[in-house]
Amino acid sequence: MNIPIYLDYAATTPVDPSVAEAMSRYLTADGIFANPASRSHMSGWLAEQAVENARRQVADLIQADPREIVWTSGATEADNLALTGFMRANRARGRHLVTSCIEHKAVVDTALALETEGFEITWLTPEADGRVTPEQLQQALRDDTILVSLMAVNNELGSRNELAALAEVIHARGAVFHVDGAQAAGKIELDVKTSDIDLLSLSAHKVYGPKGIGALYVRRSPDIRLEPLIHGGGHERGMRSGTLPTHQIVGMGEAFALAGQCLESDQAHIKALQQRFLQGLEGLEELHCNTDTRTSVPHILNLAFDGVDGEALLMALRGLAISTGSACNSASVEPSYVLKGIGVPRARALASLRFSFGRHTSEEDIDTAAAELRQAVTGLRG
Ligand SMILES: Cc1ncc(COP(=O)(O)O)c(C=O)c1O
Repeated sequence: MNIPIYLDYAATTPVDPSVAEAMSRYLTADGIFANPASRSHMSGWLAEQAVENARRQVADLIQADPREIVWTSGATEADNLALTGFMRANRARGRHLVTSCIEHKAVVDTALALETEGFEITWLTPEADGRVTPEQLQQALRDDTILVSLMAVNNELGSRNELAALAEVIHARGAVFHVDGAQAAGKIELDVKTSDIDLLSLSAHKVYGPKGIGALYVRRSPDIRLEPLIHGGGHERGMRSGTLPTHQIVGMGEAFALAGQCLESDQAHIKALQQRFLQGLEGLEELHCNTDTRTSVPHILNLAFDGVDGEALLMALRGLAISTGSACNSASVEPSYVLKGIGVPRARALASLRFSFGRHTSEEDIDTAAAELRQAVTGLRG
């Protein structure tokens, strides 16, 4: 069987070999496998040292203090901890949360769950380019708003919010700013200081690290209070109990350090690939770009092939690993809620596919993908 050309880097990335090698040193009997919370022996200290080294590597990429990093199982858990942990811990100050209708499900569904606990949610509708404007946000803020949650980069569109401008509006009203940075870390400059971010969700597997590990940046000054979701041994300053997975944490640290080193070269490589891909599709009729390429990151590109059914196109493109944002249930295919959220008509949303590029994507991959896509779209229209 031929392995498809992988253009689904926004879903996940392969673990970098140097990351896998580093992780392998923290698993077996000849490695450092001890519990990092075991303070009574040398093996435990070595494991703890590895965890703290990784904490610094993650903090360095976002200009944070290592003490501001709380390990989680991924960005989903980080989003849950940020929203639920913050709203519950600060309910005496207010009950209102502002977010947008195109956030990742980890935020959308957490906000919906909070609604059932008596919190009030305002759902912003972004502009057609997928961005929330400071003016929109300004209008939504109330005296009892305590938290705003908006993503840095949207996972289906690649749209990029202007975080510093949004933070200014939020802080002027005394609320706290949570950012889902899962698609942004290691792809764009993400600086919690210059963007004035209070809580930031991170994931390792979007940045050539392992699945199942992530982190939440929790600002220390002024101190942000969170109620833990997982109770136990009081790890992570009481915010997230559970034995720390040293190998996963080491993997995330190495992946984030590598991302910092490769940021500029990755950006240049991926921007060139995106342009090459679009050039390869030039002349294809009724091609519409759902991604606003002027303001979005280059590694995610959402395209609509009007008049073609996205699911049928996906089937015809067996040689490509790509995705739709559609949700299938037994009765029907529902268009992506993100595309719907920015006002893409239903038929166009159902004719859309997401392509996402990464460090290992080659020009040859791009040329083959563009040629296959052209052929499949023309065939289905014919
Ligand atoms: C924007 C965004 N947030 C959160 C997540 C969830 O991340 P994880 O898989 O680490 O739980 C993802 C990944 O699908 C994402 O793209």
